[in-house]
Amino acid sequence: MTPSNNDLGSLSNAKERLAVALDFPDARAALDLVDRLGDTCRWLKVGMELYYAAGNELVSELRERGYKVFLDLKLHDIPNTVAGGVRSATTAGAELLTVHAGGGAAMLRAAAGAAAGPDAPRLLAVTVLTSIDEDELKGVGVMSPPAEQALRLARLAWNSGIRGMVCSAEEVGMLRRELGPEAYLVVPGIRPAGSATDDQRRVATASEAIAVGASMLVVGRPITKATDPIGAAQAILAEIAEAESASR
Ligand code: C5P
Repeated sequence: MTPSNNDLGSLSNAKERLAVALDFPDARAALDLVDRLGDTCRWLKVGMELYYAAGNELVSELRERGYKVFLDLKLHDIPNTVAGGVRSATTAGAELLTVHAGGGAAMLRAAAGAAAGPDAPRLLAVTVLTSIDEDELKGVGVMSPPAEQALRLARLAWNSGIRGMVCSAEEVGMLRRELGPEAYLVVPGIRPAGSATDDQRRVATASEAIAVGASMLVVGRPITKATDPIGAAQAILAEIAEAESASR
């Protein structure tokens, strides 16, 4: 069956809302997957494993191939150093960049200030990692449940001038209600129903996350480790498109 213009339109919207996490040890492994995926996706997330190995050369290569790069470096340092990190990521050509909300108000304000220019990436403040549950939080001295902590950190980041957040699907509805439509909410920990959760603790399906207000989903292993990565990515895109039209 040939897809209608409407189908193509909703697929194109869905592509804007999916970032594939390239968690690979080197450029060759990452580019092998990128070659297979072709134009199935538009956003690629480069995290610390790949960035420390392949650096800006790989970021440039991905951009030359027409992808948008989400640099997930989770900056967390003194304000001056983080501001410098944001400027370097701007030079690298990242369009999204993460900082840890737990770095505090002064660090977040410095990051927001460094990202004020037109070419700078959109900043995303990481609230509570999706691999962290209540017990893990207690272990680092945070006695609040993950949702309460995520809300506290999201408010801190918002009041420091950052309009994007990374949170789990469990908190995204609450953050959407709290921060309104202007917030750009990115949700990792996405798993197709019934599949392995790996090291993630707070997971949801793509449709669940979109239905409760996610702007963008981050998906790694369910696509990168699939025997058919294109099929896995297409299934997630179809779920996003369907959840989008159901919530209209
Ligand atoms: O393979 P999987 O789908 O679990 O990958 C999730 C990706 O999202 C990883 O690259 C991980 O570093 C990132 N991430 C996360 N939880 C956060 C922020 C980022 O899992 N809170």
